Amino acid sequence: MKYIIGNWKMNGNISEKKSLFSALAKVKTRNKIVICLPFTLLNGENYGITIGAQDISNHENGAYTGDISATMLTASGVKYVIIGHSERRKNHNETNEIVKDKAEIAIKHKITPVICVGETAKEKDSGKTKSVIKKMLMQSIPDSGKYIIAYEPRWAIGSGKTPTMDEIANAIKTIYENLPTPVPILYGGSVNKDNAHDIISVPHIDGLLIGGASLKSKTFIPIIKSIE
Ligand code: PGA
Repeated sequence: MKYIIGNWKMNGNISEKKSLFSALAKVKTRNKIVICLPFTLLNGENYGITIGAQDISNHENGAYTGDISATMLTASGVKYVIIGHSERRKNHNETNEIVKDKAEIAIKHKITPVICVGETAKEKDSGKTKSVIKKMLMQSIPDSGKYIIAYEPRWAIGSGKTPTMDEIANAIKTIYENLPTPVPILYGGSVNKDNAHDIISVPHIDGLLIGGASLKSKTFIPIIKSIE
C-alpha cells in the first residue's frame, strides 16, 4: 500500500472539492488516498474520501487568533495533517521545534502528522542536502508515535523541476537511515502522471505528496492509476 496525499494549499472551493471527491470515489485503488484541504473546506462532508489538513496549532486551545486546534480538526473528520511544509517554514517562520510540537499534539489527538523536510536550491548546490535533512529530522520528529515523513526539496515544489532518481534515492536513503523507527517516507515536489511511476519505484518510497496536480481529477487520477 502506497500513500497518495494531495495538498490543495490555498486553492479550491466547495464545488471543486465535490467534483474531485466524487471522481475519486469511483476510482478503485489498493493505495491510500488522502486530500489535505484548506480549513474552510474541512466541513465534515467527505464523500468517503480520507481528508487531511495543512497545518495545526501547537496549542490545545485559547487565545491564538486565526489558529486551528487538533480538537477542531478531529471534529471535522481530519485524519492526517501536513506539518512543516516549506511554505509554512518560509512564510510563517516555523522552526523545527514548532514542527515537533505540532507533530506531537497531532499524534496525541490521533491525527497522523506528515512532516516535511527538504533542502533549498542553495543548500543543494553547496552539497548540504544530506546534512540539512539530518538536522531537520533530528529536530522535528516526535519522540514517539506514528508519523509520516515527506521529502520535499524546496526548489522542486511547484517549479516543474524534479531531482534525478539518484538524487531522490540518496535523500530517501538518508531519511531511512536516520529514523529511530521505520515510518512511511513520501516524495513531494512537481509530481505528475509522467514521473510518478519512476519516483514511486525508488527504494524505501512509500508514497507521494502532490500539490498542483491534486487539484483536478484530470491530473490527479492518472497519477493514482500510474502507480497502481
Ligand atoms: P507541487 O507541490 O506538487 O505543486 O510541486 C508539492 C507540495 O508542495 O506539497
